[in-house]
Amino acid sequence: MKRVLITGGAGFIGSNFIRHLLARYDYEVVNFDKLTYAGNPDNVNDLQSDRRYRFVKGDICDPAAVNVALDGCDAVVNFAAETHVDRSLIDAGAFIQTDVHGVFALLEAARQHGVERFLHISTDEVYGPRFPANPAREDDPLTPANPYAASKAGGEMQCQAFFRTYGLPIIVTRSRNNIGPRQHPEKAVALFITNALEDLPLPVYGEGLQVRDRLYVDDNCEAIDLVLHRGQPGEAYNIGADNERPNIEVAQAVLDLLDKPRDLIRFIEDRTNHDARYSLDTSKIRALGWEPQHDFETAMARTVAWYRDNPWWWQKIRSGEFSVYYQQQYAGRLARSHGP
Ligand code: NAD
Ligand code: TYD
Repeated sequence: MKRVLITGGAGFIGSNFIRHLLARYDYEVVNFDKLTYAGNPDNVNDLQSDRRYRFVKGDICDPAAVNVALDGCDAVVNFAAETHVDRSLIDAGAFIQTDVHGVFALLEAARQHGVERFLHISTDEVYGPRFPANPAREDDPLTPANPYAASKAGGEMQCQAFFRTYGLPIIVTRSRNNIGPRQHPEKAVALFITNALEDLPLPVYGEGLQVRDRLYVDDNCEAIDLVLHRGQPGEAYNIGADNERPNIEVAQAVLDLLDKPRDLIRFIEDRTNHDARYSLDTSKIRALGWEPQHDFETAMARTVAWYRDNPWWWQKIRSGEFSVYYQQQYAGRLARSHGP
């Protein structure tokens, strides 16, 4: 492998993964990103001085642009996606466009170029809600429940079709909720931390009893690296950390770590069709030699410390378009909320 095309590398996980690749290998990296509201030049600007790194602004739905970016690349890692469940509940159009049609356009270009590896980044949400008594295995059927999850499942179906039909060497990862540096403050943990830092209420949906795993992003990057180099084409790999907690405990942990009062927590009207929890069997990736290095406490402490130490990064986002979204999404519900 010499040159890798990373799509969506100006987002949260993609920017962490590019740093991981450049630190560990002597690969050239082309970061192809549309810079949507979630794509942030601040996530990668410091990489410009590395001669092995190149940024290309473009849309994975645009075959001509993708073709140019793919020139000389022998592998693709596709992080590009619309990713926020709450936004998909308001309007799923952009999700279908990027997460389904965009994946198809990227696959088609990769087929023309004959890449060695096409790693598609997917999510535990494609299985739909699951409980620990019945954790999802990689060959289980995909039964997504919300528009984001359904669009990610649609992209995966295209990947399967290109593997079976054209022998394109596709591999898929399905990970649980990531946390860590550079996650957009629309996502729960980053939102709770940045609100707490500004002494604003933490909006917890329902009674905060829904459960998510909290996988530290560096652990996911290690897993993606492993699968990129040693995964089996045509296969999917579940990635999870066993750091499951109900959302209320996550909000409490944020406040405790920042020494803020717990009465900042506000219970607000729940998300429509909120998936209660997910559950993954991760024995397949663990059999390849991977295990997470961050338990819940370490992952949370590192994440909180990064936001506390980098207000320049998140204050810019929160004062921009996000403030309009935040008002629409939360103002009414916070006015009707109740405390602990
Ligand atoms: P993110 O929202 O932080 O970043 C997405 C990036 O994709 C942005 O830089 C954006 O500009 C770019 N992008 C969006 N549409 C594009 C398009 N049409 N063409 C080119 N670039 C485009 O997302 P993230 O949290 O880093 O997630 C990365 C991937 O991992 C996604 O595929 C997501 O579904 C998956 N995933 C995320 C999590 C998580 O907890 N964050 C968990 C499981 C899976
Ligand atoms: P989120 O970070 O949006 O990820 P996902 O929906 O993909 O799991 O949400 C994580 C959990 O936190 C989920 O159960 C919804 C909940 N949540 C809140 O309680 N309040 C919020 O403001 C947000 C954004 C999410």
